[in-house]
Amino acid sequence: MCGIVGYVGPKSVIDILTNGLSKLEYRGYDSAGVAVNSNGKIKIYKAEGKLQNLKDLLETHRSEITNTTAGIGHIRWATHGAPTTINAHPHSCNCGKLVLVHNGIVENYKELREELKGCGCIFKTETDTEVVAHLIAHEYGKLNDLPKAVRAAAKRLKGAYALCVMHQDDPNMIVGTRKNAPLIVAMGQGENYLASDSPAIIEYTKRVIYLDDDQFAVLTPTSVLITDIDGKQVAKKEEILPWEPVAMSKMGYKHFMLKEIHEQPDVIRNVLSGKLPDITKPIVLDEVKLTKEQIKNLKRIEIIACGTSLHAALVAKYILEAFTNIPVDVEPSSEYIYRKTVTDANTLVIGISQSGETSDTITAIRQAKAVGSHVLIITNRPDSIMAREADSLIPVNAGIEVSVAATKSFNAQLIALYLFSMYVAEIKGSFDSSKIEQLKHEMMMLPQKIETVLSHEESIIKCARAFASYKNFIYIARGINYPTALEGALKLKEISYINATGYPAGELKHGPIAMLDETMPVLAILMPGSIVYEKILSNAEEAKARNARMIALTSAEDPHLEDVFEYILKVPAVDEYLSPVIASVPLQLLAYYIAEFLGKDVDQPRNLAKSVTVE
Ligand code: M6R
Repeated sequence: MCGIVGYVGPKSVIDILTNGLSKLEYRGYDSAGVAVNSNGKIKIYKAEGKLQNLKDLLETHRSEITNTTAGIGHIRWATHGAPTTINAHPHSCNCGKLVLVHNGIVENYKELREELKGCGCIFKTETDTEVVAHLIAHEYGKLNDLPKAVRAAAKRLKGAYALCVMHQDDPNMIVGTRKNAPLIVAMGQGENYLASDSPAIIEYTKRVIYLDDDQFAVLTPTSVLITDIDGKQVAKKEEILPWEPVAMSKMGYKHFMLKEIHEQPDVIRNVLSGKLPDITKPIVLDEVKLTKEQIKNLKRIEIIACGTSLHAALVAKYILEAFTNIPVDVEPSSEYIYRKTVTDANTLVIGISQSGETSDTITAIRQAKAVGSHVLIITNRPDSIMAREADSLIPVNAGIEVSVAATKSFNAQLIALYLFSMYVAEIKGSFDSSKIEQLKHEMMMLPQKIETVLSHEESIIKCARAFASYKNFIYIARGINYPTALEGALKLKEISYINATGYPAGELKHGPIAMLDETMPVLAILMPGSIVYEKILSNAEEAKARNARMIALTSAEDPHLEDVFEYILKVPAVDEYLSPVIASVPLQLLAYYIAEFLGKDVDQPRNLAKSVTVE
């Protein structure tokens, strides 16, 4: 959600902070701010809206921001209080000497505010963060020691937080801590950093320490001290970030989303690399720590995820059940966490997350682990909280995904899930081995087939132009492509703000058909294979009979389609099991070009955040 950067060192603090914040911009935000210690005084600058507004403000003040020693910066995704300049971070105490930035939600802020008001604290905002600033300042007044004051205050906080704090009287120090929100420490030469995510600092250093919950980092230019909440030093391992700074470049594409859609053939090659050595050899998944015995004894699989990752989970239900005969339940993490966790040691719990930092999914996997389930995480971020807490891991190697709308991570997750399903099937002997060989061969052909889709963008652009002015859209499919319909509709909603809904095609006549007329286009996904092809076609005919404008997404060579559909988006033929990978690509492009025609902010759609680190 919010992004945090902290810096202590000799370089221009403003440049480091604004550059770091710009690398977190993709996470989605509505205001930004920095605080710097300049000439021994704390100065705060904040602006509503895009980061550029803050950069412009800082330019007009640049001559007064000299002799800097440390600073903290923040981009905010509003939770408590409107996205205004006053509510933007950093927040400060009464005297303005203590400043902090915060990511997360402090749940007991109302009680604390009342208590602090009684101690003379004057509040300028309604935010939970300002309460924390006053609380730490109050402790500082008693202890006269910034690390101790932060630790004492943290003992009073309930909820989720990553904090980065500094005080005017400690000009060469920043202090950070976290609980259920990400924060990393990064070490340079004669300078050190705090950040909520690695893109903010990777240009400067790859040496990092991952803070755990309730750990505290005290940074000066030449030292990093990590302690627990009682101030006892904790030994931490230094790790090297697995990314290259170039991942954050658009490489000539107009938007990150378009670049990331086009990266999918290589992403799939990367996911397969080393895991699918040859179609006649078993799948290799070294990071899966379940024994063969444990796999054979699995009675149930539960998959928990949110958003696009949830749609990948829904596809996985079809393939896992078909290949392994193990019943699979899929649930949004945000629902899972508020039910009794009915799971056990014979249930495998799979968490899927691009970021590995989604708060609800983290809570869900912790609940499942607590009752004895083995937790397997499928994530694009091997450096994330989920990856570090997993019993088993399948890294999807899609590279950093910058656009808020997930694209390449979806298909990378699907490939990881196909590999895992085949891996289990091979151990259990639960699926026809010659069919598995055929699917392995087809999986290796997927990158080429996606390249073919990408080389025929004109037909998708033409279709996007024809439908960009519609206010509503329906996507229909059945079987394994029902989740593809959900994902296609989600992509369109997210970046064009068009009201798009995915339905199982058979459900149309149980209600949604009432909405159909010439103002409600219907896109049907028809991938040949099982009997559902014919069924979807007849559902599409029912929609056409209600005057809906019809689009088909298909690999079928079926002349009858032209009687029903005004636009036919063709994709290469592929086994139906693998078809969601191919079918999702034109849907991503359709959403992209519609949003482009509408002039929307494709990479940073309104109200959305790339990484949802609050409940
Ligand atoms: O990082 P995660 O995969 O856990 O994120 C889950 C959702 O927040 C995410 O998929 C979201 O729906 C994207 N904006 C989809 O494009």
